[in-house]
Amino acid sequence: MSEFRAIILAAGKGTRMKSDVPKVLHKVAGKPVIQYVLDITKYLRSLKTYVVIGHKSEMVRAYLGDGVQVAIQKQLLGTADAVRSVVPYLKNFSGHVLILCGDTPLLDKAIIRQLISKHLKSKVACTVLTARIPEPGTYGRIIRDQNDAIAAIREHKDATPEENAINEINVGVYCFRAPLLLETLKKVQLNPNKKEFYLTDIVELLLSRGQKVETLVTDDPNVAFGVNTREDLALCESILRQRISKRLMLNGVTIVDPKTTFIDDDVKIGRDTVIHPFTVIQSGVKIGRECSIGPFARLRPGTVVGNKAEIGNYGEISRSKIGDGAIMKHFGFLGDATVGKNANIGAGCVTANYDGVEKSKTVIGDHAFIGSDAVLVAPVTIGSKAVVGAGSVVTRGKKVPNNGLAVGVPAKIFSKEFVKNKRKKT
Ligand code: UD1
Ligand code: CA
Repeated sequence: MSEFRAIILAAGKGTRMKSDVPKVLHKVAGKPVIQYVLDITKYLRSLKTYVVIGHKSEMVRAYLGDGVQVAIQKQLLGTADAVRSVVPYLKNFSGHVLILCGDTPLLDKAIIRQLISKHLKSKVACTVLTARIPEPGTYGRIIRDQNDAIAAIREHKDATPEENAINEINVGVYCFRAPLLLETLKKVQLNPNKKEFYLTDIVELLLSRGQKVETLVTDDPNVAFGVNTREDLALCESILRQRISKRLMLNGVTIVDPKTTFIDDDVKIGRDTVIHPFTVIQSGVKIGRECSIGPFARLRPGTVVGNKAEIGNYGEISRSKIGDGAIMKHFGFLGDATVGKNANIGAGCVTANYDGVEKSKTVIGDHAFIGSDAVLVAPVTIGSKAVVGAGSVVTRGKKVPNNGLAVGVPAKIFSKEFVKNKRKKT
């Protein structure tokens, strides 16, 4: 395959979000909007990717980290100007360039693959991804000539009423032969209405120079979905959630009521696990097979649940590992905890993991039994098969031995032998 590089445009102000946070960093289904677009270029492995940043560039750069090549757009003068900021990196590059917008998290990798292969096969200067959608809103319209070939992209603001009646729109994703893109970019003029340089003007410019432009048309309305407002963000969240639930259900997970279940994008759940309503499962959580989660449970990032575990109502678990067959049937909080196999966490048990300065760990052994309303002030270790009495407070730094017992406030700790002798005497 000829060499391909990607450019993600993410320098825009996102004015309509009315936010101090750059638009592309707003989260949907647990991940920043731009991450969905980055995931696509990551998936298309060979794509070296440049992200154009500008508005609050330091915040976006901090999120992207060192692994991502950024180009700075100094003045925000439109999408063509944004691409111009990548030109220094593309000098002498004779391959192809894929351009994407950083605010379109519902883009689908299969369609991008299709666009790339069509572009490579047809050998044209530019291939534009378009969508036929019932409500074309403020997207750029695709103008076609009498032979049905693309003739121009007209921005909503500049279009005549007849043109705005067209329901084929510009998704904002294009493939270009790099040398032609670079040459033609120079020719893009400032749009007098919006005082911006439009990347979309390139289509007409290429055609006027006798170059060929093709389109790939989709009728999936979500592909084009750009997040411009908070309303868009919420709508996008609900579409993503539907996608996530569908994928999990197809893989053998029961979701009793997808409408009231909130599962982030990169959550993994094993087959025959049942997720009950009003449950929130956040980014990166992994759950094994045959578990029962919820109703009203919240599993926060960094949580890994083994097989056949049960997390009931009002349980919150954060950055914790829950062993196979462990049970936490009722309300309580586990944070920075490791819970062994078949351990039982009683109702109202709390790991006090934060002392106001730092967070500490709690280790609960296999088959341990933690009584109702126990507080484990981390760091604390509860041995395997140990018992913590109801209402006990196991204080900081304590270790309850295997088969041992902790009771009282503050808890007194007894060894296995002591418990045995006591049992014999009574
Ligand atoms: C753009 C297209 C429109 C298309 C739509 C699809 C143009 C002129 N219009 O419109 O045809 O239907 O996308 O979503 O290209 N950006 C920069 N620097 C800038 C301006 C924008 O990096 O100076 C980035 C934004 O961060 C955003 C992307 O480019 O990620 C698109 O910009 P936006 O202002 O949202 O364009 P639209 O009006 O949606
Ligand atoms: Ca947009």
